[in-house]
Amino acid sequence: MNKREILEQKIADAQLGGGAVRIQSQHKKGKLTARERVNMLLDEGSFEEIGMLVMHRSTDFGMEKEQYLGDGVVTGYGTVNGRLVYVFSQDFTVFGGSLSETHAEKICKIMDMAMENGAPVIGLNDSGGARIQEGVVSLGGYADIFYRNTRASGVIPQLSAILGPCAGGAVYSPAITDFILMVEHTSYMFVTGPNVVKTVTHEDVTSEELGGAHTHASKSGVTHFACSNEVECINNIKQLLSYMPQNCEEEAPVYPYEASNEVREKLNNMIPLNPNTPYDMKEVITEICDEDSFLEVHKDYAENIVVGFARIAGRSIGVVANQPASMAGVLDNNSSKKGARFVRFCDAFNIPLLVLVDVPGFLPGTDQEWHGIISNGAKLLYAFCEATVPKITVITRKAYGGAYDVMNSKHIGADLNFAFPNAEIAVMGSKGAVEIIFKKEIESAENPQAKLDEKVAEYADKFANPYGAAARGFIDEVIVPADTRKKLIKGFTMLQNKVSNMPRKKHGNIPM
Ligand code: HXC
Repeated sequence: MNKREILEQKIADAQLGGGAVRIQSQHKKGKLTARERVNMLLDEGSFEEIGMLVMHRSTDFGMEKEQYLGDGVVTGYGTVNGRLVYVFSQDFTVFGGSLSETHAEKICKIMDMAMENGAPVIGLNDSGGARIQEGVVSLGGYADIFYRNTRASGVIPQLSAILGPCAGGAVYSPAITDFILMVEHTSYMFVTGPNVVKTVTHEDVTSEELGGAHTHASKSGVTHFACSNEVECINNIKQLLSYMPQNCEEEAPVYPYEASNEVREKLNNMIPLNPNTPYDMKEVITEICDEDSFLEVHKDYAENIVVGFARIAGRSIGVVANQPASMAGVLDNNSSKKGARFVRFCDAFNIPLLVLVDVPGFLPGTDQEWHGIISNGAKLLYAFCEATVPKITVITRKAYGGAYDVMNSKHIGADLNFAFPNAEIAVMGSKGAVEIIFKKEIESAENPQAKLDEKVAEYADKFANPYGAAARGFIDEVIVPADTRKKLIKGFTMLQNKVSNMPRKKHGNIPM
């Protein structure tokens, strides 16, 4: 073979990964290969591979005889909708995508380039974990990646798709990244698999139950998206990227938008007059934001709070909203953690926040207290307090107690606070309040029920409205619901050049 032919042969070998039989087996499992995934993610023809000819250096267990060009991971850069991204895609057909010293070096190389050049890193994970034949060097390789994930956190967006097994320490790199996407029935994440679980805790559990997409989307909250197949997963990555800037120094891309009549009459009838009647806050979000722009994040976890990206007049926003359709929109441990993490992502990457409030308060009870509602609620409070991006709040109905303060109130740094005319802003619900402050009067009344009703009506009249808060400037404007979008477009435009800095410090100490 001449030199040109040698090169061509090497490229052809590398393209084949672990070989045709293993590729077939990958396809049989309903999985794409590492290269097919990269091609689907990136704009056609944009991928430039780095490190295609890397080989492992292991000599134990006869490994020197088993070599595959690229060593089980395809790395490089390309564009998604014209914007630069770095990508690594683990190749399960080569030693089960397991992580060797050189495999880790390849990932670290593109992570370093992503940091220096300020562009997102997308990890397509499909790996049996540490390369068992290599021992401690493979553990070192993981730690090198964790270190870079942490240093890159808040500097460049990091997205992790889990497209196969992901076990042992391998789960911690995705866990440090900003968003995790899993595919139902073909991807798993666990620190220890079902066999170890059986030995240690005697529990019988399948991989799917222990760490499948559904489990992590709804029970643990580890994954933000559970996708029904790989195509959907890759499309979700592309859509997610569309709301984000390339790095923390930049703004998210602005999409074309044509101004029209922004009054949305439908909003006037969306919030039920009875404060105890549920409604779907997602319908309100959809009505307020640009058409088809809302991408919900963490959809199946802590459904009593809704978080996601959207656009208003073509600009990215992060939406955080209580959901009256689930547990009356109460704040609890999981919803507080979910909200806090999303707020911090948006703040890190200059994405303004829209907060829609309809919250009866924090959920009481031993379960909540023993699982740390004090620290967890404080996470959400802390996240809103430290966020310096433009922040607008709309109270659609209830804003009671500590939850009023926490949900981006004026006091903790919101730039604009709106309330609908039916909003109720008070320390607590009228009945609970009256039962405490008029206890004796009610008990000694001739007709206690009538007295209670009378006092409830009196209290509601005085406090269950937005005007006490508006009189003090805690609410900037009481608005007709139909005008919400119009007000938000003007408000976010006005806040476009906001500059607000936190006091100089190494980093804060969020109650973890
Ligand atoms: C080397 C591995 C490997 C590994 C799989 N293979 N895992 N090679 N190191 N960790 C190889 C297999 O030998 C096989 O090679 C091929 O990949 C496919 O594996 P199969 O077992 O045939 O596939 P499947 O039945 O789909 O099962 C996939 C699997 C299983 C669930 C991932 O292979 C498995 O349990 N692997 C070990 C997982 C593990 O314990 N990893 C270490 C975790 S500890 P051939 O030649 O037949 O194709 C860890 C520590 C990190 O990761 C700590 C960081 C802090």
